[in-house]
Amino acid sequence: MLLYVFLAACVPVVCHAAESFSVLVPHDPISVRLGSAVTLPCWLSPPLSAEPMEIRWHRPPSFEITVLHYRDGQLQESSQHLRYRGRAFLGSRGPEAGGLKEGDVSLRLENVTLEDEGEFQCYVSSDRHYEGAHVVLSVTETGTPPVLSARQADDGRMNVSCASSGWHPRPKLIWSDSQGRSGLSPGDLLYSHKEEGMVSVFSWILTSPSDAGWLSCSVHLSEGEEREGRVALLSPGEWMQSLSTLNQPAQILK
Ligand SMILES: *[C@@H]1O[C@H](CO)[C@@H](O)[C@H](O)[C@H]1NC(C)=O
Ligand SMILES: *[C@@H]1O[C@H](CO)[C@@H](O)[C@H](O)[C@H]1NC(C)=O
Repeated sequence: MLLYVFLAACVPVVCHAAESFSVLVPHDPISVRLGSAVTLPCWLSPPLSAEPMEIRWHRPPSFEITVLHYRDGQLQESSQHLRYRGRAFLGSRGPEAGGLKEGDVSLRLENVTLEDEGEFQCYVSSDRHYEGAHVVLSVTETGTPPVLSARQADDGRMNVSCASSGWHPRPKLIWSDSQGRSGLSPGDLLYSHKEEGMVSVFSWILTSPSDAGWLSCSVHLSEGEEREGRVALLSPGEWMQSLSTLNQPAQILK
């Protein structure tokens, strides 16, 4: 009864100010490994309860792809795009967050696919106010350990090549040697986009055994895990692989 009296007495301008809120999201893209789960944080400030509000997560620019829709106190599965049914839920942005009651409207997305890469919009509306904000999701995958091979080039030097596949996005490839030189200039560096957004990389470099005890080919994404392979160059004119590699033995082709 008290509540009713208060609401009835509240002049529209004041009510509006009380119900106004901002929708906040992280500034930086969220990065996730292909196939794993991720939370895209989104929350109200001040931390009003989002329980009576309508929450939509969708993929801009098209409103047709609804990732999640919450209304009347529950998830509306029927308005969810098929692509997201069964793997998009309301999540928690952290242990300190108080759930919907405290304005946490974060999205929990499971089994992330490459199609999920890009922008998501978090959109919250109350009777009197609505706000939206974008979060960017980037999806990564670490490729196969580099396979190195060596052949004799026409001028007597050795042509060492390095190949690795299954990366996303495009990885960096760096040649270095046992003398501590890094970023050696390759003869070529080629990328190919093969299976569904996955990137393969191939590079070769000319070297003399006198230059290098071993050559290393390292492939990595800017934000993470690296894969390295090494080939040992034992004596001039003859080449053998002997050093171990971090992930897989190098292959020598004659
Ligand atoms: C997500 O992946 C797991 C393991 O691969 C699988 O068991 C589960 O059914 C998947 N869930 C959805 C909604 O695709
Ligand atoms: C080095 O080997 C690669 C293939 O492994 C080949 O494409 C390239 O032309 C070779 N370069 C030289 C200079 O022999």
